[in-house]
Amino acid sequence: MYYFLAGRDAFLRLLPKGGRWAEIGVFAGDNASRLLELCEPSELHLIDPWFFNLDFDWFNPPEWSPLFGDARRLVRQLSSWAYIPKGQHVNEHFDRLYQDVVQKFSHDPRVTIHRATSAAVASTFPAQYFDFVYIDGDHRYEAVRRDLQLYDHKLTEQGMFLGDDFCEHGVFENAEYGVISAVNKFMKRTGERTLILNHEINSFFALIRKPDTLVSDDERNIARDQPARQSSTSVWWSYHHEVTEEARGGNNGTITGCYGFHTDYEYRPWWEVDLGEIYPITRIRVFNRLGATASRANNLEIFASSDAQSWNKVHSNGGAQFGGADGLPLMVEFVPPRSARFVRLQLDSQDFLHLDEVEVYIKTDSSRSDAAAPRFRGVPPVIQAMIDSEISFIEINDALMPNYHHKWLIRSDGSTRGVPAF
Ligand SMILES: C[S@@+](CC[C@H](N)C(=O)[O-])C[C@H]1O[C@@H](n2cnc3c(N)ncnc32)[C@H](O)[C@@H]1O
Repeated sequence: MYYFLAGRDAFLRLLPKGGRWAEIGVFAGDNASRLLELCEPSELHLIDPWFFNLDFDWFNPPEWSPLFGDARRLVRQLSSWAYIPKGQHVNEHFDRLYQDVVQKFSHDPRVTIHRATSAAVASTFPAQYFDFVYIDGDHRYEAVRRDLQLYDHKLTEQGMFLGDDFCEHGVFENAEYGVISAVNKFMKRTGERTLILNHEINSFFALIRKPDTLVSDDERNIARDQPARQSSTSVWWSYHHEVTEEARGGNNGTITGCYGFHTDYEYRPWWEVDLGEIYPITRIRVFNRLGATASRANNLEIFASSDAQSWNKVHSNGGAQFGGADGLPLMVEFVPPRSARFVRLQLDSQDFLHLDEVEVYIKTDSSRSDAAAPRFRGVPPVIQAMIDSEISFIEINDALMPNYHHKWLIRSDGSTRGVPAF
């Protein structure tokens, strides 16, 4: 976790320009204008329903509504933070805001407006589409959790979530926010993430994947689209009947969280790739199928061979579960590199083998034109940028804050404060 001693704009300026952005929760478009100016996105998708699905009469709110709880309080809260003129219905006001936003960005080809909830529109974006997703919509716990969950797979590998109001209460009418608990829960579920906060009372937050699941810009995946085969196919679950056809789904460059190939239920099922020649392999990264069946790969073993006759075991997973598209793939490193032409992944058990994607890396000369697309390893770029720009920040590491993930946050005044356990 990093605690960042500057305002949100200073942080936004550090981010790489030209990314694909989404903003969830747009309101009057003030932050959208800021993002366009400071971050110079190539695309900015603005997502907001500009509509409240009320289950009560706005002008005569009951004490309690099944959807919103204390309806009178909600009317007061919304009226004050959204500056709704007296006597105007909230949805009339939001209609006008929508029209204003359309007008405001109508001449900017980078901007696409989606008048819908974040949940309704999520499925229309391809996986790994966005570099940045800014979450500032519904601040309730379930809603923020849903946004994080739904848009996680929409982010590129180095993509970043940002958001507002990492605090427990809104400024108007003390509205209760669930942002802190939702981010904590998300980090617990998806594992290794770096959290960046700042000193403001309603701090923004940024969440980035930890670098140890990423590969560097001088490494190249040489398994991509190489001939592959597998021990069997399943009449029920495989996409193709033929083993080489089916096996292609394991190294076609598509990471979905689902399975790319599926064997039959058998003793020690396997999948293998022929790299074409003997290479010095530096790393193998395996993306598991996510969900309840991920544990089937717990006893995965990896073998390497130069002739597909004699095989050396180079990794044994020993019962540990690993992820994939959730940012927690299995990463096996070879120092020094391991020479092989064939790589085989095999279960040391009787089961189905079904993985999402298998990548095999070698070091490349980064000056070569076929070097991999820019990726990083070591210090993530935004933290490097914080160092370079000499903006103060504190790394709150395990030694300083051993219980952060369970209980504590440092506040701007330096005191510690409990946050809801998850
Ligand atoms: C705090 S305002 C956003 C302010 C804006 N990000 C800014 O800083 O200029 C919250 C907005 O979230 C929108 N909103 C509420 N629920 C939403 C949802 N499920 N999906 C997307 N937007 C939502 C509301 O209509 C409202 O306009």
